[in-house]
Amino acid sequence: MDTPPPAGNGAHNGKRGRARAMVKVSPYMVIPSRVGGFSLYLKQGDRLVLYAEKGELFTEEHKQRLGLLGVDHLYVRTEDYALFTRYLQDNILEILDDESIPVGERARVWSDATTSLAREAFDRSLPAPVDKRRFQRIHKLITDSLRFLSREDALKELARFIREGEELFQHGVGVMVLTVTTLCSFMKEDSDLIVAVGMGALLHDIGKLELPPEIFAKKFETLSRADKDLVKSHPALGVGVCSALPLPQETLQCILFHHEREDGLGYPSGSTGAMLPSYVRALALCNEYDNLTRGRTERRLTPFEALVRIKSMRSAFDMDMLRRLIEVLAKADLTS
Ligand SMILES: [Fe+2]
Ligand SMILES: [Fe+2]
Repeated sequence: MDTPPPAGNGAHNGKRGRARAMVKVSPYMVIPSRVGGFSLYLKQGDRLVLYAEKGELFTEEHKQRLGLLGVDHLYVRTEDYALFTRYLQDNILEILDDESIPVGERARVWSDATTSLAREAFDRSLPAPVDKRRFQRIHKLITDSLRFLSREDALKELARFIREGEELFQHGVGVMVLTVTTLCSFMKEDSDLIVAVGMGALLHDIGKLELPPEIFAKKFETLSRADKDLVKSHPALGVGVCSALPLPQETLQCILFHHEREDGLGYPSGSTGAMLPSYVRALALCNEYDNLTRGRTERRLTPFEALVRIKSMRSAFDMDMLRRLIEVLAKADLTS
């Protein structure tokens, strides 16, 4: 599948007088001894010139030349973007662990790699968006990302890339980052569990793909009883979508119980907080926070307003978990 580039990130090669859509990418993705299945271009004056041919082996010289030229961006053709993001996913661990790369650039590469994979997983036009192969890629990507996501300085940089957008996959990535960073702040050693929860957080709303999108565009309170029941079915539908995958129990619990509340007034089971694992309570909280702070400018809350709103709903969410989330956001300078 050809993944469309991020909006507002395009450029055009006017060299041959023919508009050719290009996507701006980080020059730090050039890793010596790796082969890119895509051509790379750089900007010279007003023109884009070929920097590395599709299938060419990247060398130390490639990397050094970029530094000498002071290049901020490279460019990939739109039609090669899916191959480019696949390359990022395959090499993400090496890029994220490279301390010579500024954290902001690593966040940019992480965002490109993760957003493209999430976009595929939520693509309604695909017959089986979350198939076994894609699930394995998600598992690998989150496993490879864990050390980076547990850094105190990563969230601030990531926020620049993941806060915008109303699509389900964008919400999934936002909730995954918040949930994983919150859990890493107090249970860093249990990496298998955090990876399983990260997958659940990314896919938590996958069941919405099974329902007409229009019902999610309206306010829940204004829906008919039948439509409310449909909305409330999305966690169970999500588990159904993933039933053929070898998902850990914790991932399935995250998908099924992400709308439960501390006071038992959530759905689908009406379980109280005491009956739910702490990672589900973390996800329920981060889901609410992301919903309140995402979306169209006129209706979304600032982080501060969202935290005040959640605090006022103290019977609905785990207040200890809220304190942890606030600490994580404060360290990343993201509470105002
Ligand atoms: Fe949901
Ligand atoms: Fe959600």
